Amino acid sequence: MTPPAISRRRAIVLGGLGAAAVATGATGWIAGMGGTATDSRLAPADTGTDLTQPPLLDSRDGRLQVAITAAAGVQVAGRNTYAVGYNGTSPGPTLRVRPGDELAVRLINHLDEPTNLHTHGLRVSPLGNSDNPFLRVDPGTSFDYLFRVPPDHPAGTFWYHPHHHGVVADQVFGGLVGALLVEHPPGQAPELAVTADRVLLVTDITLDDNGSVVQPSAMDRNMGRQGELVLVNGQHQPTIPAVPGAMQRWRIINACVSRVLAIRLHGHQLLHIANDGTFLPAPATKEQVVLAPGNRADVIVRPSAAGRYELSAEPFERGSMGMMGGGMCMMGGGNATSGPATLATMDTYGIPVSAPPLPATLPAETPPTGPVVTQRQIAFQMGMGGMMGMGGMGGGGAFTIDGRTFDPQRDDQTTTLGAVEEWTVTNTSPLAHPFHLHVWPFTVLATSDNTPPLGVPQDVVLIPARGWVRLRIPFTTFAGRSVYHCHILDHEDLGMMATVNVHP
Ligand code: C2O
Ligand code: CU
Repeated sequence: MTPPAISRRRAIVLGGLGAAAVATGATGWIAGMGGTATDSRLAPADTGTDLTQPPLLDSRDGRLQVAITAAAGVQVAGRNTYAVGYNGTSPGPTLRVRPGDELAVRLINHLDEPTNLHTHGLRVSPLGNSDNPFLRVDPGTSFDYLFRVPPDHPAGTFWYHPHHHGVVADQVFGGLVGALLVEHPPGQAPELAVTADRVLLVTDITLDDNGSVVQPSAMDRNMGRQGELVLVNGQHQPTIPAVPGAMQRWRIINACVSRVLAIRLHGHQLLHIANDGTFLPAPATKEQVVLAPGNRADVIVRPSAAGRYELSAEPFERGSMGMMGGGMCMMGGGNATSGPATLATMDTYGIPVSAPPLPATLPAETPPTGPVVTQRQIAFQMGMGGMMGMGGMGGGGAFTIDGRTFDPQRDDQTTTLGAVEEWTVTNTSPLAHPFHLHVWPFTVLATSDNTPPLGVPQDVVLIPARGWVRLRIPFTTFAGRSVYHCHILDHEDLGMMATVNVHP
């Protein structure tokens, strides 16, 4: 399809404001929160079709060199839409590299606003034309990224998405996401006798019946927008074929802007083998795996018997804003419950096979030890001042870290390469916020809700509402400046992001 001549997105923004102005009247913006409810929605046209994989771009001889164009006009849920994608698809191509490889990406911006590229979870330099969140690629221009994947990089599941402050949620919600896999060097993979290795990249989106992405209300942004359609690889409730007894590896990526995925496969347990791109010490049998926005889980699925089994996201309470506004501001307000939603259906049929057991241990990495040299207290806050701004007047100051909104010029934390630190990140608000740190993965030591820590490095952790997490962060790999932020990307865009500068 041809992208629209004028900015479709902006046209919708203007239309939305106009409609809200008509709808709200004396009650201000409150009525506007439900203003989109009467709009017609695009119905999915591909429900139940077999799960497909995004196009695979694989490295060869130590290098993957690709051009990736961000542009509007991709198929979503089997429909032509004005949603955005990379190289014509959403999710974009799966990029697969190996430890020691160079990943060279020419990012071409055919959007009508700035963008850039973040390799979420990848342990690469934050400097220059590597994983640098401060870069800006303007409309009609391109930029050549070069990511050098260290030879000792763990093999696992990562992803990429834009990171231009202010429009990250819009661009991710609109469809700019893709999987990024690091493969084992030959001969070094654990013996997982799987018959299929699939990416399940989960997104959510809301589309009107013209195929335009529906803009969130101010309240949606404050709660963190959740799309009405929950998709896997851009498909609506796809079917995953399976054979009884045969093992599959599913790499589940939560690429939703705000939605927490509490994943269950009905009639089955999930064998959790890796999280955020690193193996667990041993396969862990789980009824449910919870993924905050940004998190990934690699699970082994072994269907027990023929049948159809739903892969679902169960209800998950992200918190409530009921307390915040003393009533009036919140009435009819936002929904901070994620799910329930059907993600996919596993359709199991055929002659049962027997698969060898999983290895008892997995190649988990041992994070660097060493004495903690610095302890920090970090506070994620949602301020009342900003809450009053939910009327669409800008809402400055609402979403802060240590009382400040994001300033790319300011160093919020400074440390020295080699330092092992302990951060206690508190959340004074009634909503859970997923804490994400670029480049330097952390291990969770403890959380206020007593979630058992995984014991391996991760890059996103949910800070419970009115709770805290305690993290151990080895700044032992790369020097440079990068960011930590809330991975409810609406909150990040509203200012809940800060910088850390690691001096060489
Ligand atoms: Cu997935 Cu700073 O983001
Ligand atoms: Cu948040």
